Amino acid sequence: MRTLFILPLFVLAFFWSDFSVAQLMVDMEAPPTNAEMNQHCFDCHGQQVYSFENDFSGMIERKVMNPNYVLDTGAFYQGVHRHFACIDCHSPDYENFPHQSELRLDMMYSCIDCHGGDETYAQYNFDLIEEEFYQSVHSSRHDETFNCWMCHDPHAYKAMTRGDFSIGEIVKAHNQTCVDCHNDPVQFLRITDSIQPDLALVHDFIPNYDLHLKSVRCIECHTSQQDTLWVAHNILEKELAVKKCVECHSSNTMLMASLYKYQNIEARQNGFLNAVILNESYVIGANRNYYFNIISIILFGLAIVGILIHVFFRIKNR
Ligand code: HEC
Ligand code: HEC
Ligand code: HEC
Ligand code: HEC
Ligand code: HEC
Ligand code: HEC
Ligand code: HEC
Repeated sequence: MRTLFILPLFVLAFFWSDFSVAQLMVDMEAPPTNAEMNQHCFDCHGQQVYSFENDFSGMIERKVMNPNYVLDTGAFYQGVHRHFACIDCHSPDYENFPHQSELRLDMMYSCIDCHGGDETYAQYNFDLIEEEFYQSVHSSRHDETFNCWMCHDPHAYKAMTRGDFSIGEIVKAHNQTCVDCHNDPVQFLRITDSIQPDLALVHDFIPNYDLHLKSVRCIECHTSQQDTLWVAHNILEKELAVKKCVECHSSNTMLMASLYKYQNIEARQNGFLNAVILNESYVIGANRNYYFNIISIILFGLAIVGILIHVFFRIKNR
């Protein structure tokens, strides 16, 4: 009789292990390790106005902070580097105010300085991403001023695709990264003097451009998708961008290999493929979710097996 109880447990354990999600390793629950130490920096860099004691006059002075140097404290502690001290990346000499002017010339670390070749982060494929980045138009057409930090805010980067986010939120955050520069003249000028085309005009061949941007990422059309990578980084020349509607609006839509990769994760987290199913119903001719079909067939099979075992013991123990 005991096997009747143990068997379902095995089945459950099997599925559970298969369902475990590639989550962040960073502890997102614990209080940030260096909050106390960082508070000193946030006293000035966390608000629009800062004050300091003038050593010459002995007076307390209040000044307006350069808006680009005002950091969002909440966002910093929600990011992947939330346990960092500011001076892990910046010189400890920043403890002093006024800061020495030469500190501005410090070389900053790049992602690869810390993450390159580190097995702990193998699932992120940092080295492959770096390779792809060097092939991208951003890197090949511009010097080293265009680096990883241009898209990865050092003080707020969240790993969207690894977190507890819906596809809609992932799409929004990814696209915002591109739009924040391509539609912002000041950011664009940091990189180049060439004219900045209006994105809505460039893409006027797509009907309902705004709606599309809520459902597909820029990188869906602007990269060649690498299967091992969750987020392709090789932005190609505009001539190579996807223009054909059928690339997405067909039964074997390319979105299955890129954006909808996350559907598995979502399914695991929420139990249902809400965002994807809603999306797919728009994508003309798209099938129902393949994996879900398989899983339901397996579950059905297991239920039958369970019933058969039950009947077997019933008859045997009579
Ligand atoms: C100064 C070294 C350093 C730099 C520079 C750096 N990181 Fe990190 N990063 C770390 C460390 C250390 C951790 C682990 C933090 C922890 O566990 O609290 C981490 C964690 C992460 C994580 C979370 C990994 C996980 O599964 O929990 C991601 C994603 C990440 N970094 C991406 C980046 C990216 C992208 C860049 C460049 C834009 C970058 N890092 C630059 C040191 C660095
Ligand atoms: C008393 C206020 C104050 C404190 C405390 C402070 N800063 Fe600043 N920081 C400023 C101001 C003002 C600027 C703008 C440039 C300037 O006036 O020197 C600045 C600029 C910077 C810059 C931009 C580059 C540069 O050198 O101009 C960095 C990076 C920086 N601070 C990091 C830090 C870090 C890290 C800490 C904590 C260890 C910190 N700051 C503490 C006021 C402060
Ligand atoms: C993971 C590394 C990292 C950590 C941690 C970090 N910074 Fe930075 N910070 C950078 C990098 C890289 C830049 C240069 C970004 C760029 O050039 O766009 C920068 C730039 C700045 C600037 C200048 C703003 C600008 O746009 O150039 C200020 C001010 C600053 N950091 C303050 C801080 C403070 C305060 C903390 C702690 C709360 C902190 N940083 C923590 C990496 C880091
Ligand atoms: C043109 C913008 C851009 C540049 C430049 C860029 N990235 Fe990214 N990267 C993104 C976006 C957008 C994401 C998606 C954010 C997310 O969901 O984690 C991302 C995600 C990542 C991830 C997480 C991938 C995963 O599997 O979860 C890593 C790691 C990463 N980038 C590393 C780098 C490194 C290293 C560089 C520089 C060599 C770089 N990126 C340069 C835009 C960029
Ligand atoms: C920090 C600013 C910045 C960010 C962020 C950024 N770009 Fe760019 N991008 C540029 C600049 C500058 C150029 C080059 C313009 C030139 O010199 O021709 C460019 C070029 C391009 C081109 C090539 C156009 C052509 O002429 O062939 C495409 C496509 C593109 N970006 C897409 C993206 C996508 C997708 C993202 C987000 C993943 C992104 N960009 C993020 C600044 C940025
Ligand atoms: C449905 C596919 C698709 C999507 C989604 C898409 N693009 Fe494009 N994009 C294209 C195509 C195709 C071109 C080439 C248009 C042409 O040359 O007529 C292009 C051109 C561009 C250019 C070159 C502009 C120029 O003429 O110099 C940039 C920059 C660009 N896209 C950025 C983006 C950004 C940023 C996003 C996301 C906010 C995005 N694209 C979303 C297909 C797309
Ligand atoms: C990168 C993939 C991709 C490409 C390329 C693409 N679409 Fe779409 N399209 C989508 C997705 C995803 C949706 C679902 C939007 C939603 O959530 O409602 C959509 C929705 C639509 C809709 C329905 C909008 C509505 O009002 O409900 C139309 C019409 C459409 N696309 C036409 C086109 C045409 C025409 C082209 C070629 C010029 C095209 N699409 C290219 C992905 C794409």
